[in-house]
Amino acid sequence: MSIPVRIVAASLAAFGCVTALATVTAHNQNAPAGRPRWNVAHRGASAYAPENTIPAFRLAAEQGADFVEFDVQLSKDRQIVCLHDNSLERTTDVEEVFPDRFRTVSEGAQAVRRWMLDDFTLAELRRLDAGTWFDPKFRGTRIPTFGETIDALRGRSGLFIELKTPERYEGIERLIMAELEAKGLATPGADPRTPVLLQSFTASSLQILAGALGTKLPIHFLVSARDAGPWLSTEGLAKMKAFATGVSPEKTIFATHADGLKRAREMGLLVTPYTFRASAVKGYPDVRAEMADYLERFTVDGVITDNPDQLPPRR
Ligand code: G3P
Ligand code: CA
Repeated sequence: MSIPVRIVAASLAAFGCVTALATVTAHNQNAPAGRPRWNVAHRGASAYAPENTIPAFRLAAEQGADFVEFDVQLSKDRQIVCLHDNSLERTTDVEEVFPDRFRTVSEGAQAVRRWMLDDFTLAELRRLDAGTWFDPKFRGTRIPTFGETIDALRGRSGLFIELKTPERYEGIERLIMAELEAKGLATPGADPRTPVLLQSFTASSLQILAGALGTKLPIHFLVSARDAGPWLSTEGLAKMKAFATGVSPEKTIFATHADGLKRAREMGLLVTPYTFRASAVKGYPDVRAEMADYLERFTVDGVITDNPDQLPPRR
């Protein structure tokens, strides 16, 4: 976190009352009144360190991220761990360590071998190297647990927690809230230096968090370009507003559903698009210019980026 002191400026009407928080940092000091300008590091500073690992999380905080985004899922023994994919072979050496533990699954017309996360206990996951695939200098980096991630970021950055495919893990919402409770982070503003936000592409999971579990933590609904039509309609937004305090749209949606996003803002939903990455910029000279355009022209409330060091300074 670039500036240790954050002002908690709660200003969202959510769940029928004013609860959700916005944080004001050095980055957003000129943001429209009551609206933030968050620098959200996607899977950590994932352009520079292996995604969803402690080195990437720490680097993101050092680079000034207001929040670190990470993906949580469950191991076979129902421990919460950070991993993006449902399977382990892209980001670990699981094929070498456990050569026989794959499943053959159909993907389109192809049958492929997958080492599924939820076939492995935490003790087994701890044997995997989650760093070398990215760069040999990260050899020995492990898949972190949710608790380890909180401890690494506490006091340094906010937590932008994505429940990844929660429909695969019955009860994961309750486990996440229990861990946040144990760490003293289950309520808005509990630790102003470590604000917490929950997000998911799965509406039913967010409905559990906001409804049955009654959390007052801010909740963003992730909307892909494929799902933008129904969710950014008048009816879709009304439905979203019942369980979310913000929306994290795929950035291309600004070209196709500008009216829906404008309506979302007018309804008080924060808008934090994804994913801005220097390795995949189209139509802009660089990722800094791209993020600047979204922040200035679309006045979004934050950007989710692999390159948190590239957030443009305020003009
Ligand atoms: O936070 C937005 C982004 O993380 C959603 O996409 O696939 O990178 O988890 P994904
Ligand atoms: Ca994610």
